[in-house]
Formats: sequence, C-alpha cells, structure tokens
Amino acid sequence: MSDSEQSADAAPEAPKSFTVTLNVRRYDPEVDTEPHWESFDVEMYSTDRILDALHSIKWNQDGSLAFRRSCAHGICGSDAMRINGRNRLACKTLVKDLDITKPVYVEAIKGLPLEKDLIVDMEPFFDAYREVRPFLVASDKPEKERHQTIAQREAFDDTTKCILCAACTSSCPVFWTDGQYFGPAAIVNAHRFIFDSRDEDAKVRLDILNDKEGVWRCRTTFNCTEACPRGIQVTKAIAEVKQATLGTRGV
Ligand code: SF4
Ligand code: FES
Repeated sequence: MSDSEQSADAAPEAPKSFTVTLNVRRYDPEVDTEPHWESFDVEMYSTDRILDALHSIKWNQDGSLAFRRSCAHGICGSDAMRINGRNRLACKTLVKDLDITKPVYVEAIKGLPLEKDLIVDMEPFFDAYREVRPFLVASDKPEKERHQTIAQREAFDDTTKCILCAACTSSCPVFWTDGQYFGPAAIVNAHRFIFDSRDEDAKVRLDILNDKEGVWRCRTTFNCTEACPRGIQVTKAIAEVKQATLGTRGV
C-alpha cells in the first residue's frame, strides 16, 4: 500500500475536549433567602455553546438547575441570560469564544423578578409589549394582499426580526431603576407597526409612547443595541419613534 493510501485510511483524529468552570448564580425560592454562586466543571468541545454546558450540568451533575430554552437555535428567544456580565442567548454563545482560562459567570437577566436560578418572571416584559398594540390594525378588507413598495417595506424591516428575548430591555439602566418604563423591546415592536404603511393605528401607539414612561425615558446608552442577538438597531428604532412622536418623521 502506498503512503498516500495509508494516510487516506487513517482514522480521523478525535476532537479535543477541554474543561471549563461555570459559576452559576443559583436561587431556589423554597430554601434560599438570597441568590448565591455555585461552581461546576464541565467537559466541552469547540462546537459547544453555553446552552450545552447548562444541559451537561443539568443532565449529569445537578438536575435541579433551572433555565428556559426551547429551539436551541436563536429563534424562540427563551434563553437570554447574563454571561460574563453581558446579555446574550446561551444557545448562540460558543464556550470557546469566551475567556475559558477563567470561570465563566452565568446569571439571570436583570430588572425582572427572579423566579428560580436563571429563570425570571417575563410577565412585566410582556405587559409592556401588549400595551403598544403589537398587531396590524386595518379597517379595509381587501380581496388580495395589500401591496407595499420596497421602500415602504424597508421602513420597518429591521424591527420585524425581534424574537422577544428581552436581552435589550433587561440591559437598559433606565428599566432597572424604573419598573414602569416600557423598555426597548416594546418600542421596537411598536416601531414595527408604526412604520408599516398598511397599518392605521400609528397615532394611537405614538400617543401611548409619548407618555412619561414612554420613549422619552430612553437615555441613548446603546446597551440595548449591543445586547440584541438579532443585530437590530434598537437605539435607532427608538430615535425614529421619537421623531415620529414629534412629527419630524412621517409614518
Ligand atoms: S429587540 Fe433584540 S434584544 Fe430586544 S427583545 Fe427583540 S430580539 Fe431581543
Ligand atoms: S433556545 Fe431558542 S433562542 Fe436560544
């Protein structure tokens, strides 16, 4: 057998694993008065994400670890959490992209009531979302689809990408200190309909967001834009809603 035939038959090298320490902020309302950190060592591969690390802990070390996830592919928005102090989706964060020479810190997102471990109560977030009427309002009943020009569709294209993960709202310092503020995600979802040429309720939504807890609470810190796993220009969307409220941008 020639050298080249021998190397073609050689078994592929096994992927290399590495050990990473996860410090997870735990809280069990039935036994704890305060959250506390717990440390876990997990064996990971270069394709593993923080979600895989959490699964490994839950399935092999401590079945009581509580976190939300569903799609595992960046679509459902249920696994937003703070990873090394930054809001991210666990299913989109590769372990190897973090500094694994040190422990990786994983905790629940801030600004929403903590329920257990990495799970927060999302109801205040969805209450704000529902308040901005995030649905198309149109009185006509066309027999065919409502046409839009490319420019009309582009006006709200970015904000259609929202997956309601709350990474933006829970990274906003105004939201942390003022539980009444609508928060970036609600404004993004209002923007999605305010700038839709088929919708007739822009004025109603703008009146809602012109409220004292509306768009004017935004201090343009850009935390929301940096946190968004969908790459939505959240601060820009908020600025456009502010302009529409003032009448300096048409809807
Ligand atoms: S705007 Fe981005 S960060 Fe905010 S809820 Fe939507 S997808 Fe998540
Ligand atoms: S599990 Fe669905 S977005 Fe991460």
